[in-house]
Amino acid sequence: MTEAKLEALLKESRSFPPSAAFAANANAQPSIYAEAAADPQAWWRTQADRLTWEHAPTTTLEWDLPFAKWFSDGTINASVNCLDRHVAAGKGDKVAYYWVSDIEGESRTITYRELLAMVAKAANAFTELGVKRGDRVAVYLPMIPETVVTMLAIARIGAIHSVVFAGFSADALSSRILDSDCQYVVTADAAMRRGTPSPLKPAVDEALQSCPNVKTVVVVKRTGADINWVEGRDHWWDDVMAPQSDQHTPEFFPAEQTLLIMYTSGTTAKPKGIFHTTGGYLTHCAATYHYIFDHKVDTDIMWTAADIGWITGHSYIVYGPLVAGATQVMYEGLPDSGGRDRWWKIIEEFKVTKLYTAPTTIRTLMKWGDDLPASHDLSSLVLLGTVGEPINPEAWMWYRKNVGRDNCPIVDTWWQTETGGIMVTPLPGITATKPGAAMTPFPGISVDVVDNEGHSVGNGEGGYLVVTAPWPGMTRGIYGDPERFKATYWERFPGMYFAGDGAKRDPDGDIWLLGRIDDVMNISGHRLSTTEVEHALVGHPMVAEAAVVGASDETTGQAIVAFVTLKLSAEQATQDQAPLIEELRQHVAKTISPIAKPRQIILTPDLPKTRSGKIMRRLLRDVAEHRTLGDVTTLTDPTVVNMIAGLLETNGSED
Ligand code: WT7
Repeated sequence: MTEAKLEALLKESRSFPPSAAFAANANAQPSIYAEAAADPQAWWRTQADRLTWEHAPTTTLEWDLPFAKWFSDGTINASVNCLDRHVAAGKGDKVAYYWVSDIEGESRTITYRELLAMVAKAANAFTELGVKRGDRVAVYLPMIPETVVTMLAIARIGAIHSVVFAGFSADALSSRILDSDCQYVVTADAAMRRGTPSPLKPAVDEALQSCPNVKTVVVVKRTGADINWVEGRDHWWDDVMAPQSDQHTPEFFPAEQTLLIMYTSGTTAKPKGIFHTTGGYLTHCAATYHYIFDHKVDTDIMWTAADIGWITGHSYIVYGPLVAGATQVMYEGLPDSGGRDRWWKIIEEFKVTKLYTAPTTIRTLMKWGDDLPASHDLSSLVLLGTVGEPINPEAWMWYRKNVGRDNCPIVDTWWQTETGGIMVTPLPGITATKPGAAMTPFPGISVDVVDNEGHSVGNGEGGYLVVTAPWPGMTRGIYGDPERFKATYWERFPGMYFAGDGAKRDPDGDIWLLGRIDDVMNISGHRLSTTEVEHALVGHPMVAEAAVVGASDETTGQAIVAFVTLKLSAEQATQDQAPLIEELRQHVAKTISPIAKPRQIILTPDLPKTRSGKIMRRLLRDVAEHRTLGDVTTLTDPTVVNMIAGLLETNGSED
């Protein structure tokens, strides 16, 4: 973030208190902060009572920095908490999901009773296929009800789901399968995107060529697309479900049993398998869902417009809302599947009361014009949320005015894959929100902004966001790599969890997030490491060296700009750069995912390096963002950056 933007943010003085009516009926009342602060562990223990335990925990926190255990003598089953207990309480006919297809006019209504029956069958089927407690199952599925069923069935039998975003490539999928040694994969023939099948099964087939331990693949038929079939390994979902009983007696597991793995990018090329356990994670999801989204069980229609392939989907499409017995919309498609007013149609048709999405989507909807939301009845909405990256005040104000009709509190929620649930956020009935600020730690959460030495900064000052006390939803580590877990999060500031984000306290002490401070980019709310993209580029036979930076982008927050030097032979053979640049962009899309495709690739004979050979990405970021260059005196050849800046002006390819 540039100084100018930062200054602009800090001049932001608008503030929006909730209406008196909202405040009076809110789940969280002002006393909540003091209640939690008086004894955070005891407060979290009371939040754990939102769950149904077989044996209620008598312990709260055991802390051996950086390894936490929460509620460790409790026994619990995640799927029972999401389903059985609601059905047992007479809520079986309540709608769990209105599933809305990519294709307009298609939808499915699934009640809690129906969802439980589907999950019971799937639990029986997976057991028959050999899945046992502790096994890892890779889930590579689009936004369809079977994805939720799969996750809950895996959880129900004590296995571990590792959901891989269906937009990831075969290479990305295989490395994730191998890292946690998944022996089962659940996928679909294809995903439906704007009415056209977008194949998934071929990526699984390709990935499994390097994953000999996967002996079983279950395939949901979503589109009927033609697929390759490996006899003995592949099973149709419908075939394995059909013979199963819809009754399944669950076992209960220790609270600290691993529930899920979710891969996320760090500063190296190797993604981190962040794992979460059961009791603490569910407690965090349940408490944050209740207070931040102000859940009203009888009237709410929640729509978290995120993909289940990311942590937002896990915590606020699956576990948080289902534990609360919520009714939700789950949407399969893109924001413009069937037209650019598709979202507003969905809100109108299903009378959505709470909408939770990402700034990049808000900016896209904003670009499509005010008349689209204006021509639909959005009066059912009572609360709006945002997550994934800092939201610029213009987008925040647009969201408030055009979607919320100046009438809905906006919760700007800061958290991470690692934190499991929301950490810094307004509370909708209490906080006077400021456009662009995540505001205050959630009750029971201790967050600080510190300087280089780890000292708290004063109001009006910037620094690094840290978490200073363990919390229930915190990751229990990086799968198979406790040393990396310590080094990445706990060594920069001893005793504190280092999130990797810059932050500022405003004169009132409220927190504003300022983006990543490491080599992690945030593209449309998706985390990608510069190194990961560099590795992909260098993997191309013509590339000698690559440096990748995230440059600010109006729609996606950041966009990838790559500076690439070619091997001498390739340089000589390349007359026309455009086809090669396109080939390199496709190569990255294939190696990682289309979301990792660079916006621009600059072919340059040289990269700016220090005398010790380190590429100065900071300078390249200045170049990519068209800024005056910072200090170049440590470079071996200070003229290189100006030369690259010239190249960017003349032949940088922009979409
Ligand atoms: C990174 C975590 C948590 C689910 C989505 C992303 C950025 C997230 C905000 C926000 C400013 C935010 C941070 C964080 N981020 N929410 N409200 N304001 N920045 O999960 O992929 O684990 O990424 O997203 O940089 O570190 P993730």
